Amino acid sequence: MQATACAHSNIAFIKYWGNRDHALRLPANSSFSMNLGGLFTRTTVRFSAALSADRAVVDGRVLEGASLARITAHLDYARRLAGCTLRAEVVSHNNFPTGAGIASSASAFAALSLAAAAALNLNLSEAELSAYARLGSGSAARSVPGGFVIWHMGEDHRSSYAESIAPPTHWQLIDLIAIISTAHKAVGSTEGHRLAESSPLQAARLATSAARLEQCARAVLERDFERLARLVELDSDIMHAVMQTSTPPLLYWLPPTVAVMHRVRQLRAEGVGVCYTIDAGANVHCLCLPEAAERVRAELSAIEGVREIRMAQPGGGAWLES
Ligand code: DP6
Repeated sequence: MQATACAHSNIAFIKYWGNRDHALRLPANSSFSMNLGGLFTRTTVRFSAALSADRAVVDGRVLEGASLARITAHLDYARRLAGCTLRAEVVSHNNFPTGAGIASSASAFAALSLAAAAALNLNLSEAELSAYARLGSGSAARSVPGGFVIWHMGEDHRSSYAESIAPPTHWQLIDLIAIISTAHKAVGSTEGHRLAESSPLQAARLATSAARLEQCARAVLERDFERLARLVELDSDIMHAVMQTSTPPLLYWLPPTVAVMHRVRQLRAEGVGVCYTIDAGANVHCLCLPEAAERVRAELSAIEGVREIRMAQPGGGAWLES
């Protein structure tokens, strides 16, 4: 009763921020992302009668307290479906350094869901697996299918899942991630989602996000970078406006974050195919066309406060290892 699964991280072009149901992680809006090839989590789940409690080790660190409880709660769902009461050992590795400032909950919960479901022979469809991953971390729903992915907000557990609209080979976009801070964020996304509704701007964000998503999906399908760039930056800026105006306010940007935003805008004005998007942290994902990547990398490296640049290209869906 053991299985190993892997899943890529992903970067949202249209963001998830705020829930209609926090316990089920039913989001306040649908979102859109690209899986990040090369950045993934590999997780082995082993159910055994010899264990008296769940145990989880991530990158060699034994989890305790709330982090372990989040994993136990996630495994409970699969155990309930399978009618199994066995405890499990979870061993997980990220192939990017933990604390590198790259979100790992999406790849972690997608890999954990697939490994747990396979170890218990649950035979879930991709949509069911995506909905299951969502319960652990909302953005993990989007790391189950491959390539360019829409997470439909849905209205209940079953209907809130992600699906691919184009495979990774559809468009060779490059994500250059400018690492500015590797510090643990003061307010994590789970808490942040709860604060979203306290911003007077969240209603305006939600009223307009479905239209942005539709246009964004079309821009990806038509490989229209100019249109995509405007939408991606707008959606990121609107989410950060909500964050910055919630109670208490969340300001994730650091001075180098803003320096990168300015540089990316200048480059695009000069005709270089690049745009920025920022999650709940200080690092900046710079999406660019392959022909612009070398120039963008050089420009980002020259900005004071950019410690490192990591690169990713569109990645596939979660997979099982034999
Ligand atoms: C800003 O999926 O990390 O990255 O469900 O609490 O684990 P939890 O939140 P999470 O939220 C992601 C927020 C975001 C935007 C996005 O990826 O869509």
